[in-house]
Amino acid sequence: MTFALSTPEMTRKLPFGPDGAAPVRLTEKYRPATLADVVGQGAVVQSLQGFLDAPYSRGFILAGDTGLGKTTCARALANDLGVNPDWDLHEIKSATCDGEAIERGLSALRQCGLNGGWKMLLIDEADTMSDKARKVLLSAMEDLPDQSIVVLTRTIPNASRLASSIASNHC
Ligand SMILES: Nc1ncnc2c1ncn2[C@@H]1O[C@H](COP(=O)(O)OP(=O)(O)OP(=O)(O)O)[C@@H](O)[C@H]1O
Ligand SMILES: [Mg+2]
Repeated sequence: MTFALSTPEMTRKLPFGPDGAAPVRLTEKYRPATLADVVGQGAVVQSLQGFLDAPYSRGFILAGDTGLGKTTCARALANDLGVNPDWDLHEIKSATCDGEAIERGLSALRQCGLNGGWKMLLIDEADTMSDKARKVLLSAMEDLPDQSIVVLTRTIPNASRLASSIASNHC
């Protein structure tokens, strides 16, 4: 049985763009743009800022409960690295996290970034990756293209082979 939840009246009214344009999502409107603006995640922010001093191609896993700022930290890292959000930031959502989606994301990383800049593959809710997706990603992590960052977010820390494999080799 499917239960269709309705949108609360209050959120339906808030906040609309100019001239009744598409509503602006508050999570996007107030999402910190840079690591310096992220609140209350000192150790993570400090580590990522340290990485920014001498960045190199590698993978990160951001783990924690929903709403703590995993996607925010990933996008802020991309911004601080100068990743072009339109061309060089590739996001894979959990619902599409199969082997083909990972292949497409990796192939985007292999293409030259705009002005030769940094590129990021952000795999959100990586807990739901298929076995094939995990294998494809693990083998690619051995030899990431130059100026490429792969970030996985997950809500269940240390619960899968993916996390332990990537953590031991690359994080
Ligand atoms: N540490 C933080 N500092 C400032 N704002 C934050 C922080 N964490 C979350 N937020 C705010 O909450 C919103 C949701 O955060 P975000 O999408 O990064 O959470 P998440 O950990 O990725 O959650 P989920 O597991 O549901 O994807 C952001 O748009 C941002 O506005
Ligand atoms: Mg998220």
